[in-house]
Amino acid sequence: MKRLTVPAIGKRKGGEPLVMLTAYTARMAQLLDPHCDMLLVGDSLGQVIYGLPSTLPVTLDMMCAHGAAVVRGSYHSVVAIDMPFGSYEASPEQAFRSASRVMAETGAAAVKMEGGEAMAETVRFLVTRGIPVIGHVGLTPQAVNVLGGYGARGRSAEEQAKIASDAKAIADAGAFAIVLEGVIAPLADRITAEVACPIIGIGASANCDGQVLVIDDMLGMFERVPRFVKRYGDMASEISAAVQAYAGEVRSRAFPGEDNIYLPKP
Ligand code: KIV
Ligand code: NA
Repeated sequence: MKRLTVPAIGKRKGGEPLVMLTAYTARMAQLLDPHCDMLLVGDSLGQVIYGLPSTLPVTLDMMCAHGAAVVRGSYHSVVAIDMPFGSYEASPEQAFRSASRVMAETGAAAVKMEGGEAMAETVRFLVTRGIPVIGHVGLTPQAVNVLGGYGARGRSAEEQAKIASDAKAIADAGAFAIVLEGVIAPLADRITAEVACPIIGIGASANCDGQVLVIDDMLGMFERVPRFVKRYGDMASEISAAVQAYAGEVRSRAFPGEDNIYLPKP
């Protein structure tokens, strides 16, 4: 199976919905890859993998290490890597230095960065220099301290206008897709209809051009997940049950059994 390309993703506007999931490790990437169009190495790995309280402490080193693992574990999907907080906001030049390092060290085809109108110049700077960019507007978790929490966005007319113009600015700057997170559904519908590039929703609307979820959330790894997560599995229970069985068998010496030990050749 040949790997999809960024232009092929960009052409999917209004077509068959784009399937995107986050991935952080090679083995998980192998399992997700055949079913997805895009794999996102999200800075959500801060919470999901590293147990951090937010995405703010995530570093370029972390994104490069996990990004390379996901590229090694995939053959088909476009892999995009989140630019972590502090690695791209200061200037287009800073963003280019960070993003080019991510591309070189991981082999990924694209980066993703949060922000609206204020980041449009940076998106254009990168795209015109060979770095495909996915935008991310609406609820932008790196801005949690400005927003005051992770609640849904776009409840006021003023906020709706701002998010819509943010999406338009990032698309006009050359982003080939935009993640739209945590906005009321009618606003997501409007942005999907008005903006030229594919809009990938998370906590947005079924009418978006695609959907993304955090893999550990949809697999049921956590007790508490946001409303917009649908659990397609119950991995936490499966893992607990497996580990409980193992612990019991170790303690009772039922493990290792005949099949799990080496015997001298007869
Ligand atoms: O970091 C992440 O996982 C993301 C997705 C939720 C879009 O940005
Ligand atoms: Na992210």
